[in-house]
Amino acid sequence: MSNPEPLIKLTNIHAGYGGMNILHGVEFSLLPGEIGVIVGPNGAGKSTTLKAMFGMLHCSEGSVIFNGHDITNKPPEKLAELGMAFVPQENNVFQTLSVQENLEMGAYVRRDDYSHLIDHVYEIFPALKEKRNQDAGELSGGQRQMVAIGRALMIEPKFILLDEPTAGLSPLFMSEVFDRIIAINKAGVTVAMVEQNAKQALGFAHKGYVLASGRNRFTDTGAALLADPDVAKSFLGG
Ligand SMILES: Nc1ncnc2c1ncn2[C@@H]1O[C@H](COP(=O)(O)OP(=O)(O)OP(=O)(O)O)[C@@H](O)[C@H]1O
Ligand SMILES: [Mg+2]
Repeated sequence: MSNPEPLIKLTNIHAGYGGMNILHGVEFSLLPGEIGVIVGPNGAGKSTTLKAMFGMLHCSEGSVIFNGHDITNKPPEKLAELGMAFVPQENNVFQTLSVQENLEMGAYVRRDDYSHLIDHVYEIFPALKEKRNQDAGELSGGQRQMVAIGRALMIEPKFILLDEPTAGLSPLFMSEVFDRIIAINKAGVTVAMVEQNAKQALGFAHKGYVLASGRNRFTDTGAALLADPDVAKSFLGG
């Protein structure tokens, strides 16, 4: 039996901002159905790697292949059409729109009836159903993250990119958001996620990537990275 093809594969990515290169040959790949977690210190290039995957900055070298398509330097709109959805680290909800309006914004590219998708998001995040007419800006941090993830689900993505979905959340909300992400993954969505809560996230990651200074430092299963004393000492707080 042949090995399955990766759903997403970054090879030797060089990219940055203006004239400044930040990623120096980053590699990343996931099979369909996997959760991949990117960890590493502040400024390592984690967000930049997600942005390079989602066509938000120019790759001067290397390639990004998604579901058999070469999407290197293709614009985000094109990638959304192919089934990729990105939830950025900041400013990821429309504060002055209601929860329901935020979800509707996520469906702006759809021409079909998407009411079942809104229902589906409310099944995953029941707390949002109760707050559906409230402005997203009035929600707790955890609920805002749920709105941002819910909005991304409105295009029925094959692959979702999440940049620190639990940043600033209490441990209780963090676990709840992780549980929902695992449920979304079990329903068939491949997930690439950047996380500062590295121990927890590597605990359920099929693949883990430790980045530092714009380069891959360690790549393995989440469990193997957690068990690696070098990774623990340098990147997981001992
Ligand atoms: N828009 C930008 N313009 C110029 N430099 C940037 C920009 N965004 C990030 N950088 C720089 O690129 C490097 C990597 O940033 P990146 O945001 O990818 O780090 P990160 O690993 O996501 O860190 P954090 O854990 O703090 O989110 C940093 O040195 C940062 O200062
Ligand atoms: Mg970041």
